[in-house]
Amino acid sequence: RDLAPRFPLTVNPSPADEETYRAVMDRLSFGVDFTDHMARATWTVDAGWQGHRVEAYAPLTLSPAAAVLHYAQEVFEGLKAYRHADGSVWTFRPGFNAARMNTSANRLALPELPEEDFVASLAALVAADDRWVPSTPGSSLYLRPFMFATEAFLGVRSAHEVEYLAIASPVGPYFVEGFQPVGIWVSEDHHRAGAGGMGAAKTGGNYAASLLPQQQAAEKGFAQVCFLDAATNTYLEELGGMNVVIVDADGTVRTPSLTGTILQGGTRGAILELLRGAGREVREETIYLEELRRQIRSGQVAEMFACGTAAVITPIGRLAGADWDVVVADGDPGPVTRELYTELTDIQYGLRPDTHDWMYRL
Ligand code: COI
Repeated sequence: RDLAPRFPLTVNPSPADEETYRAVMDRLSFGVDFTDHMARATWTVDAGWQGHRVEAYAPLTLSPAAAVLHYAQEVFEGLKAYRHADGSVWTFRPGFNAARMNTSANRLALPELPEEDFVASLAALVAADDRWVPSTPGSSLYLRPFMFATEAFLGVRSAHEVEYLAIASPVGPYFVEGFQPVGIWVSEDHHRAGAGGMGAAKTGGNYAASLLPQQQAAEKGFAQVCFLDAATNTYLEELGGMNVVIVDADGTVRTPSLTGTILQGGTRGAILELLRGAGREVREETIYLEELRRQIRSGQVAEMFACGTAAVITPIGRLAGADWDVVVADGDPGPVTRELYTELTDIQYGLRPDTHDWMYRL
């Protein structure tokens, strides 16, 4: 909150009318509705970052030649603001997201935004849009900071003009069914990222690469696609928009290691820390699909779940591919998945002590 003045409120829009506001807050789906404001700053190669402000949420004016529309020079982040019982609003590890956005920006040859400005933009946005932070269980204000190349130039090089924005969307669960097991389709013919590519960057292109296989998965009735590595097509990387975790019957937890081709998930990191703190064996390693299938069939795998800011922790009940289909244990959410979900969301909603110092008051 001390940082918020870095993004002064320049235009106070006429707020959404009470009826619209009520309708949105009563339905809360994911990423459909947006608040009254957005935070913003502009970068040029000559002047650096300037024009930090909060203004009315509104369509952008963009040159049809803007580089992002042609060469996809864009990075984004996702985090949530949670309403606590005393009315205060908190977010989860914003420093992590600020640092990750800069890692992504580096890979895309975009400028770094100082971490304090990143956090300030969220504090200022949430201050202006406080009424949009929901208080019903499981709901939050999803924050979407992003940066993209606006320079009107068709030459292929890093852009000289860049825009940073943060928008916000009051949300309920990412998967409409909430904390219910989902089915995952393993794509054996499309890949998301290769060695030396952009897989570790949170950039639109990676999500674009996921859309066709994601659509194929959805057509078959699966909630998410799982990608295998591009080099050997044998081991698990991540899902279309979240990381994947396995809990063995002996209590060991396994997840694909950060090879440079998968996204370093904030929820993934927090979960591994919680599990290690509880004395559990946690392994970041190569997880071969063929072995995993065998281990699910034999009962060695007790639980699987997906994790991400949007997805939080979502149980995986079934895994399938072109000519195989396996149910994880009895298909129902297991105890480790349930306990982790409760532990993590309790910390985020201020229902248990934040011993890791993860929460940041906006
Ligand atoms: C998030 O979890 O915040 C993401 O950015 C992923 C996307 C599926 C919404």
